[in-house]
Amino acid sequence: MQKQEQHQPVLLAEVIEYLAIDREGVYIDATFGRGGHAGQILSYLGNKGRLIAIDKDPEAVAFAMQQWGQDERFEIYRGSFKNIKEIAVSAGILGQVSGILLDLGVSSPQLDQAERGFSFLRDGPLDMRMDPKTGISAAEWLACAHEKEIVQVLKDYGEERYAKRIARAIAEEQKLRPIVTTVHLANVVKLAHPRWERHKHPATQTFQAIRIRINNELEDLKVCLEQSIEVLKRGGRLLVISFHSLEDRIVKRFIRQHAHEAVELKKLPFMATEWRPKLKNLGRGIKPDAYAIKANPRSRSAVLRIAEKIS
Ligand SMILES: C[S@@+](CC[C@H](N)C(=O)[O-])C[C@H]1O[C@@H](n2cnc3c(N)ncnc32)[C@H](O)[C@@H]1O
Repeated sequence: MQKQEQHQPVLLAEVIEYLAIDREGVYIDATFGRGGHAGQILSYLGNKGRLIAIDKDPEAVAFAMQQWGQDERFEIYRGSFKNIKEIAVSAGILGQVSGILLDLGVSSPQLDQAERGFSFLRDGPLDMRMDPKTGISAAEWLACAHEKEIVQVLKDYGEERYAKRIARAIAEEQKLRPIVTTVHLANVVKLAHPRWERHKHPATQTFQAIRIRINNELEDLKVCLEQSIEVLKRGGRLLVISFHSLEDRIVKRFIRQHAHEAVELKKLPFMATEWRPKLKNLGRGIKPDAYAIKANPRSRSAVLRIAEKIS
């Protein structure tokens, strides 16, 4: 198991500031990882406070149990945050939560362990599942996906300009030798990609796209956001850290939609109760400063958005 200090929590001070922790409040860390944020939240909670954590990854859950299994204020659920409402019901906290944190994407230990298959820099089995016991691995998906489907995934989830060329190269390679390792896939993409950028591996977008597809990341996020309103109490806050524009767009739109920031709605002379905004947008996206990026280069694309439940 990885040591906790290998994972540096992103935008930690900002998360703590905006959660404005009530010592006796109930909080959900829906992406526990290695507990970088969770540990800080716990340190602000009094004896009557509670922290419910969620993670898909069995290693994250095992770490949580080892670290805080004896702490009565803490509970961890293994599963997807798309079930946040069900988890809140079973923890008896639906509508009572003061803060929900989502720190999206993969954790440093997931990226750093070659055997998890997330990294194009470390050779390992092409897996990419956050929960290795659920669904199919990236290698299994690549073996059965049609070329057209691969093109679509690379476009939709990787915004990859050269999706067609890359998908063609993958399909051709599969006929010769099944792609079952990370470095094999990275090399196929590298050869097919016509435009290499400095400081960026040409397989970056492809790996992101396949990972999002394998873990159903964007759909889970949409479901979780919708349920979060019911899970929060009035005045409770939702904090989401995204790492790429696809996630951030979903979060931004969700907050805008429920804060009724659309101009047409603002112009209405009166509004029925069920139409009233449910959320208040607490500012623009917060990004790490140069100092924080230097200390933790993986935070460079992070954006934190915050909303407060108002009705
Ligand atoms: C960026 S890490 C979180 C790091 C954590 N905040 C910390 O400081 O240690 C994201 C974590 O969320 C988990 N995760 C991603 N999507 C998930 C989902 N849909 N449901 C539950 N956990 C998820 C991953 O397994 C990973 O452990």
